[in-house]
Amino acid sequence: MSERSGEFARQVRAYLEYQLSQGVRKIVLPSPTGPARAAGGLEAIRDELGDCTRCPLSATRRTIVFGEGDPHARLMFVGEGPGADEDREGRPFVGKAGRLLTRMINAMGLERSEVYIANVVKCRPPMNRNPEPHEIAACNPFLEAQIAAVSPEVIVALGRIAAMALLGTKDPIMKLRGMFHDRNGIPVMPTYHPSFLLRNEEDRKWKAEAWSDLKKVMARLGLHVPATGNGS
Ligand code: URA
Repeated sequence: MSERSGEFARQVRAYLEYQLSQGVRKIVLPSPTGPARAAGGLEAIRDELGDCTRCPLSATRRTIVFGEGDPHARLMFVGEGPGADEDREGRPFVGKAGRLLTRMINAMGLERSEVYIANVVKCRPPMNRNPEPHEIAACNPFLEAQIAAVSPEVIVALGRIAAMALLGTKDPIMKLRGMFHDRNGIPVMPTYHPSFLLRNEEDRKWKAEAWSDLKKVMARLGLHVPATGNGS
């Protein structure tokens, strides 16, 4: 079994064990990548998500943060999960890390409204802890469906959790970043999470590397790539 399918199997197992522990005996799986789902578009996916209680994050969240942006964006960003600001507002990346992400998008010559932004999990993990594998597994069909509906030309995975969820690898972000990884025909560029960049602002190396990653994305999309600047 490949590393990726092994990780997927572990996540499915954790998800099923959680459902069993909650007394669930029958699971009707959505068909996230099926043509009907993709044709139904983002609104249909949001409808299916409903007032989700598929994992324990539902007990502590205030708002489901589904995702936002151009439903036909060429570029999609995937983060980890909502923080306190996002949980309050119901929109992804609106806090301090979100403001940095917006500056990064603008530095690429794009507006936020021109890209699509989603998270691996749609509900805030308490105390901003990392989402657990069964929480990621419970949300995964909806992320898959969002990707199928938007059908972006490139995905940027923000941080280790997003890279892990999208690529099924536990490799560190430092090893993954800087190159495209194929994900069912869509190139994924892993890069540092904006929160990491904010926590490590004193060392300019990290932002320079993130900007170098984004410039590769711009080149892939045929956007103008400036010779100078640091992306923020
Ligand atoms: N961090 C994330 O990963 N996602 C958000 O939406 C906000 C902060």
